[in-house]
Amino acid sequence: MYPDRVVSGMRPTGSMHLGHYHGALKNWIKLQAEQPCLFFVADWHALTTHYDDPGVIERSTWEMLIDWLAAGIDPSQTTLFIQSRVPEHAELHLLLSMATPLGWLERVPTYKDQIDNLSNKDLATYGFLGYPLLQAADVMIYRASLVPVGDDQVPHIEMMREIARRFNHLYGKEKGFEEKAEKAVKKLGSKRAKLYMELRTEYQQDGKDEALEQAKAMLDDAQNLSLGDRERLFGYLEGSRKLILVEPQARLTAASRLPGLDGRKMSKSYGNAIALREDRDSVARKIRTMPTDPARVRRTDPGDPARCPVWQFHQVYSDSPTQAWVRRGCMSAGIGCIECKQPVIDAIVKEQEPMHERAQQYLDDPSLVRAIVADGNDAARRLAQDTMRDVREAMGLAYT
Ligand code: TRP
Ligand code: SF4
Repeated sequence: MYPDRVVSGMRPTGSMHLGHYHGALKNWIKLQAEQPCLFFVADWHALTTHYDDPGVIERSTWEMLIDWLAAGIDPSQTTLFIQSRVPEHAELHLLLSMATPLGWLERVPTYKDQIDNLSNKDLATYGFLGYPLLQAADVMIYRASLVPVGDDQVPHIEMMREIARRFNHLYGKEKGFEEKAEKAVKKLGSKRAKLYMELRTEYQQDGKDEALEQAKAMLDDAQNLSLGDRERLFGYLEGSRKLILVEPQARLTAASRLPGLDGRKMSKSYGNAIALREDRDSVARKIRTMPTDPARVRRTDPGDPARCPVWQFHQVYSDSPTQAWVRRGCMSAGIGCIECKQPVIDAIVKEQEPMHERAQQYLDDPSLVRAIVADGNDAARRLAQDTMRDVREAMGLAYT
């Protein structure tokens, strides 16, 4: 019913590193060629944890945008924007908050975890509790169907779906909905109308999800429907409500995970990161001093790649002949660790070359990034305003 939009965001709380590139950005870059995408800097989300130190947000926002562009996000295909420049996110967040049970927010696993993990910060705030609800607004304001995220975010997406369902249930009533929906069914033509009603019954009475999917696919193909009728037919499949907000789905990033230099999760705060635009000498230095299998003390000691973080880099960066060379050479002490690390250095430097090149124009002329984001903010706002018009109307706020 709505185009298959993709929405995702990142918090500007520091600079981007290769872990972000392999864990998220590569996936975004792939998606932008397939579907309309909106990617944004989640500055309000950063404030929920960095309210006492907002300077880092300001510093990281533009750097992060340059990093995205450097990595290959293409502003001619993708809408790039800054969350706080689209204040409709906040309006939707507020309106959703009215009907969101506190327990839903308190039960989100990241909530208690983060409060415990970041014990040096007082996160017992209203804003932090609302984090996943703000995230729900970020996605639903664009009626996005797909949200590329890491697996830690899956509970947030699940809660979003419940929020959308609850919203549609509470506010999706339309006067004369049933009659209007029945009329719309007729407009499908007799053959399709019959199939539609059969699939609807199969879904509603027998709970067959495939029937629902099949009916939705059929509606996607039906050309001659008005937008209103199409919406009604989607809503009528699942009940007797209009679908005002769309239930989004998580799209998990493929497993290519790059750990930090010490084998733990790559993170600037652990001091084990390689920045996205790290200069080549520094890349070489960092890889050369990277820890290896601790059992390989001397060059003549055989090693075990399974205990070595360098091997995990080879799994991301090397082809299978190189990987075979590493495994054999390591376990037989046929190669030294410095030798083993060279292909990784070469591959990272090669990966980063086009990133440095693309970044250069934006570093030379910062107004280019400002212009891209200004356009993105406008485009995002137009979409957000469309949704808000429907939301306000559904909630009875469209006073005239
Ligand atoms: N919570 C996400 C993270 O920590 C960032 C984020 C904010 C986001 N709003 C979003 C991701 C909307 C996807 C969609 O990484
Ligand atoms: Fe690690 Fe390679 Fe050294 Fe083996 S040879 S311990 S895989 S760096």
